[in-house]
Amino acid sequence: MITNTELEYKGDLYPTKIVSFEKNVDSFYFHTDNNVVLKVTVLRDSLIRFRFTTKGYFSNDFSYAIDTTQLHGYNALEFSDEVDYYQITTSKVKCKIQKADLRLSIYDLSDAVLLEDELGFHWEESYEFGGNIVKMSKASKDGESFYGLGDKATQMNLKGKRIENFATDQYAFQKDQEPLYKVVPFYIGLQNKQSYGIFFDNTFRTFFDFCQERRNVTSFWSEGGEMNYYFIYGPKMEDVVTTYTDLTGKPELPPLWALGYHQCKWSYFPESNVKEITAKFRELKIPCDAIYLDIDYMEGFRCFTWNKEYFPDPKRMVKELSDDGFKTVVIIDPGIKIDKEYSVYQEGLKNDYFCKRADGPYMKGKVWPGECNFPDYTNPEVREWWAGLFKELIAEVGVKGVWNDMNEPAVMEVPNKTFPLDVRHDYDGNPCSHRKAHNIYGMQMARATYHGVKKYTYPKRPFIITRSAYAGTQRYSSSWTGDNVATWEHLWIANIQVQRLSISGMGFTGSDIGGFAEQPSGELYARWIQLAVFHPFCRTHSSGDHGDQEPWAFDTEVIDITRKFVNLRYQLLPYLYTMFWQYIEEGVPMLKPLVYYDQDDTQTHYRNDEFIFGNQILVCPILEPNSVGRRMYLPKGEWYNYWTNRLVCGGKEMWIDTKYDEIPVFVKAGAVIPKYPVQQYVEELDFDELTLDLYYKEGIEKSVVYEDAQDGYDYKKGRFSFLTFQVTGKEKEVIIQLHKEGKFETNYSDYKINLIGLPFRIKSIQLNNEHEDFNCDEINTNGFLIVPKEFHVLHLMGA
Ligand code: GLC
Repeated sequence: MITNTELEYKGDLYPTKIVSFEKNVDSFYFHTDNNVVLKVTVLRDSLIRFRFTTKGYFSNDFSYAIDTTQLHGYNALEFSDEVDYYQITTSKVKCKIQKADLRLSIYDLSDAVLLEDELGFHWEESYEFGGNIVKMSKASKDGESFYGLGDKATQMNLKGKRIENFATDQYAFQKDQEPLYKVVPFYIGLQNKQSYGIFFDNTFRTFFDFCQERRNVTSFWSEGGEMNYYFIYGPKMEDVVTTYTDLTGKPELPPLWALGYHQCKWSYFPESNVKEITAKFRELKIPCDAIYLDIDYMEGFRCFTWNKEYFPDPKRMVKELSDDGFKTVVIIDPGIKIDKEYSVYQEGLKNDYFCKRADGPYMKGKVWPGECNFPDYTNPEVREWWAGLFKELIAEVGVKGVWNDMNEPAVMEVPNKTFPLDVRHDYDGNPCSHRKAHNIYGMQMARATYHGVKKYTYPKRPFIITRSAYAGTQRYSSSWTGDNVATWEHLWIANIQVQRLSISGMGFTGSDIGGFAEQPSGELYARWIQLAVFHPFCRTHSSGDHGDQEPWAFDTEVIDITRKFVNLRYQLLPYLYTMFWQYIEEGVPMLKPLVYYDQDDTQTHYRNDEFIFGNQILVCPILEPNSVGRRMYLPKGEWYNYWTNRLVCGGKEMWIDTKYDEIPVFVKAGAVIPKYPVQQYVEELDFDELTLDLYYKEGIEKSVVYEDAQDGYDYKKGRFSFLTFQVTGKEKEVIIQLHKEGKFETNYSDYKINLIGLPFRIKSIQLNNEHEDFNCDEINTNGFLIVPKEFHVLHLMGA
């Protein structure tokens, strides 16, 4: 325990000595002499909540972030009263609370320090607003690294950085610029091969300092609210991230088409333009599943209206697009135009649904339609009303997805780009000012939109995308990284942002491919597509004021590269869908930064570029012009170069040659990668076989494949197919054991197994332990075999 507190700031107040404590089931309350109460709640053996008040009692406990449907429970919980401290012990960690000053420290069961207060909890009273500025500081060791925090456009490892969380419309943001669109006050610390997480569930403007101000101190603080944080123990980063994702919730499965390629621009109009674009995709045979309508489809930017001059018959158009495999996604912003003739405005006004200033007038601000009022989505009645507004768009017109934008909330022509902080919010019955509600405004809009779209899309699945988000928004919506720029630096940023969001619980994310502002060169667009097909959300979008950004806006080489990589994405759809399943089931992030993949290897701690897509494919983008290759770090293990099928041993930094139409992609030895045929859109084709690329390794490796009806909710009733392939490779033998779970019957009848890297010629084959009359010569020559999908064990023998 650190004992000196010489760094105290003037004006800061500190807890004094503990004078009493009490226990109530899983919670412990420690009262200090100066009225501070610390409540420690053990939610799981490795998940502990710490909540402080300086008033002697706690206010209503309410959070938008926490998923209240999650079950908690622990295996062990012991309490002891020692001379200088109290100790709480679970089956994973020990937590000591100092009697003299309430500072706390957490250890693993072998007494290694995981996290230790430096000054610990302290606060400053806020004269201006009342309440406190609440602060926390933790001691940090030299080798410690930090990750997480959502969409920050800075290096993966946050050591040495200061972060600000205040949802902001940050058009054309720059590297290291703060704050950005999203607020995820969750970080992962990694020290001495142990990972832990901190989720500071406070919606006011928050700050995190990772050893920037003081070398061995990490601190976080907020302009208001409570010091209220969760400690999550690893020791693996995977444990931290999955527990955090459990705590703040997981989404349902999206429809499979939402994992296809999406095309967007500000804006496609009129109808003939939309049709031209979609026809061109089909003509050029570049797969595409979704087409977006940006703000110009509306009548004077009034939400839930159509510009009938541009779109005379939306229902017919949407149907025709849908017949060609395109799902229509439309934008809906929060600003409601002040217009006495406009029904949405009338309803909002009549029912008192708009946000008000502190002294009563409506909050008025300019956005695309001019002067607007803004629904208070923190009021459950307003959310209900908003959800209902989607009826026509979804149930009648047939729109399949909704895009929520400008929901930080963004306001134009004002210095702070958002609401004045005195604006009032219902906050689900906990009335407050915008200081507290600002960071969750976008989340609550997305939540209301999600409920509306879901209701009217049923029995199919909804698709929502939002720009602003707070921790937990993944329960309702996917997201994109906002208004980026067509520069090489932004390609670097996009790669990091999507990885970072992935380990911050918000997995269904992507960037505007090619950059939103300014014009990408063909080469930059090609390099962006090559990365983005490995992002969970894959959409080209641009501001449209600088020229076109469809693949055919570039030369034929770029068109061919785009087709090649989008084709690859469509082939990998079952693989992508399987990782989505692991995300919604277990909270496993779909993209894994190298440090997540192998935290024990210190080489990974500062890597930014390479990541694992799912569990078995390693991707490393090309981030510079005129590249003929790049240096990269290949993590430990054996990997096949995807393009050459050559086996490479990892655990080293190396140079890798690439062509213009390739980026470094490696497949883990032993993996079985499922593939569909290339389709122009999801569900275009019926096919007889599922392709399985089997990458030989000596040893055992498991691979899984999740499938279902690709839309609808039958999967929740067990109608899914979950295949586990256990591959055992020996010197002259390969044994594939297949285990199937679930009640869904896939349409195809066979597996086409591509044998990659097999070190022997096959002499005989057994299927379900019976000798089968395969033509082994043909298999050896072709490199694949076709087997009926119902097998249990397949045995390939070389001698
Ligand atoms: C915002 C969005 C962008 C959209 C534009 C017009 O800038 O971030 O994606 O195209 O508004 O709606």
